[in-house]
Amino acid sequence: MEELLSEHTRNILGLKLPTDPRWVNLAEMQLEEVLTDHAYCEQKAATTCISLIQKNPDKQLLVEELAPIVTEEWGHFRMVLAELKKRNLQLGKQRKDVYVNKLLEFQAKGGSRDAAFLDQMLTMALIEARSCERFKRLSEGLDDAYMRSFYRKFMESEAGHYTLFITLAEHYLDKKMVRQRWAEWLAYEKGVMNSIELRGDRVH
Ligand SMILES: [Fe+2]
Ligand SMILES: [Fe+2]
Repeated sequence: MEELLSEHTRNILGLKLPTDPRWVNLAEMQLEEVLTDHAYCEQKAATTCISLIQKNPDKQLLVEELAPIVTEEWGHFRMVLAELKKRNLQLGKQRKDVYVNKLLEFQAKGGSRDAAFLDQMLTMALIEARSCERFKRLSEGLDDAYMRSFYRKFMESEAGHYTLFITLAEHYLDKKMVRQRWAEWLAYEKGVMNSIELRGDRVH
């Protein structure tokens, strides 16, 4: 696992803009908001996987691989809910997800089914990669040892998800095309990260 993780970590550092180190300190002060936001991120990950299965019933490998991810993401949602309850905190309202909305704007529209599929997979890969990077920051930078190990578990899972979406895209489409588009997505995401305010009350 260690070896796998360092490999993933290298890949994640392929993100073009590392998170500002001050983010951990901001997040530490607003843990209730971060946990609420995190809960909704996990929920959205589960529902997006369900919708990918619904849109692609002809892609057998995708259906087989994403079915257990739905369970895993829902399990993550429940873990975060349990953590909120333990702290006598409430699941707050879902906020507008500026980061994800900006990524959705970059998805190809009106093109081929393959192009749309590719962008859906790469959007998911990016959200997983960035979440993983943020969880890594929390797992290394929080003062509370319990919370550091709490986030480390999420970091490990999301690292696996990030690579799965890329692998699935490469299974169904030309690898070179996937790599080229992935590079465009990474450049775009850097711009998104630069354009949005650094806030400690959300995962991204
Ligand atoms: Fe998750
Ligand atoms: Fe995930």
